[in-house]
Amino acid sequence: MTRTKWKAASRAALALAGAGALAAGMALFATAPAAAGTTLGASAAEKGRYFGTAVAGFKLSDSAYTTILNREFNMVTAENEMKMNATEPQQGQFSYGAADQIVNHARSRGMSVRGHTLAWHSQQPGWMESMSGSALRSAMLNHVTQVATHFRGQVVAWDVVNEAFADGSSGGRRDSNLQRTGNDWIEAAFRAARAADPGAKLCYNDYNTDNWTHAKTQGVYNMVRDFKSRGVPIDCVGFQSHFNNDSPYVSNYRTTLSSFAALGVDVQITELDIQGASAATYRSVVEDCLAVPRCNGITVWGIRDSDSWRASQTPLLFNSNGSKKPAYDAVLAALNNGTTPTDPPTDPPTDPPTDPPTTPPPGQGGCTATVSVNQWTGGFVATVKVTAGSSAINGWTVGIALPSGATVTNAWNANRSGSTGSTNWTNVAYNGQVGAGQFTEWGFQANGTAGTLTPTCSAS
Ligand code: G3I
Repeated sequence: MTRTKWKAASRAALALAGAGALAAGMALFATAPAAAGTTLGASAAEKGRYFGTAVAGFKLSDSAYTTILNREFNMVTAENEMKMNATEPQQGQFSYGAADQIVNHARSRGMSVRGHTLAWHSQQPGWMESMSGSALRSAMLNHVTQVATHFRGQVVAWDVVNEAFADGSSGGRRDSNLQRTGNDWIEAAFRAARAADPGAKLCYNDYNTDNWTHAKTQGVYNMVRDFKSRGVPIDCVGFQSHFNNDSPYVSNYRTTLSSFAALGVDVQITELDIQGASAATYRSVVEDCLAVPRCNGITVWGIRDSDSWRASQTPLLFNSNGSKKPAYDAVLAALNNGTTPTDPPTDPPTDPPTDPPTTPPPGQGGCTATVSVNQWTGGFVATVKVTAGSSAINGWTVGIALPSGATVTNAWNANRSGSTGSTNWTNVAYNGQVGAGQFTEWGFQANGTAGTLTPTCSAS
């Protein structure tokens, strides 16, 4: 989703939430100069952003809680209900009741939903915690596929992978059962998520990545840069931003947000809370987001202090009795003072142009396909690159002969015919047209040993 769409979505959300908004007598759409919003969501929407909160499903029966939720926020993250242990408690048996309840509550009131989270080393169901290797890889990819498919069209952004980098000075990956399936597990998860829900923004999400000078921040930055350079489908980076005395807000936070945005991804503040809820620090965080055109929005990790996972730190915007704290006033003022990103964005837009391009003639220049393989004991992931020749192509077909014993289990960004032996692959709706000399990537996962794969390519 481009910024224009985020803005449209937030305005649509605002319009749907119209009853309360109109009652408050506020403008539904930004004008120049923008009218001051009277709630967090309305004010953020006027700046083309959203303002969200984590929601615990069991609190939806608490009217004091839902009164604030429904009044103030236009984005919702399920605090625990979409995690792996909640959605697939037994292998192959999916459980969506608690998550659906939150999604329905939000969407029926015009709020959007961030999905959290498809793959994480923590909060795994017991059956998954004890898995490893290719069985775990397949189970993880199946989980990503099933859950993203269930919520397709209902979730605007997914935290596809959560907290995969190590704390400390290494700047490398965190050890986990998922990491031990191969370093490419993160990109495999992103590809599976894209295939399951091509319309959702796909985010990498982590904590202690706020300080630009920290090794962990740089490690994530390097991964995102690598993903963008290789066409791995990543759209956004989530900064949890749990600020406390051990991990305080730092003034280079804005540099962090803008540096990631410069890689061509959106940035989102996904789990904000601040020990003590300093109004000045909350204001700085909001100002930093508003200063970065690709900072789409801010989510606080809970509504009242009593709702916080760190309740004793009183880190949120509302007291336990539901009244607004000074930090709330600071955030609202910062939102109302903030700038609206200019349209179109400085990064290349991905919206379709107003005049659709004329369909190129059949690809007389043909195409070539190359494959790179990441092999582990008992399985592999093949990433296939289709490159158009001297003229643009409208579609492609790739043939790959798999050696005996190799069986495809999962694929992304391509239609498949055959799982063993001679397999044939064709483009999906969104990656058939490739410009002259340009390329598109897709892939599959298989059991067995890849050996040397020699793909053929024909263009249409
Ligand atoms: O639902 C059970 C309840 O039946 C039981 O009686 C109770 C006893 O402890 O536990 C309840 O589950 C707890 C759940 O929160 C709901 O309250 C879990 O034990 C507890 O582990 C779980 O903690 C959550 C934590 O993630 C798990 O890692 C927090 O609510 C949630 O705020 C927190 O959120 C994470 C983000 O997902 C990722 N970033 C960090 C953030 C804070 O830790």
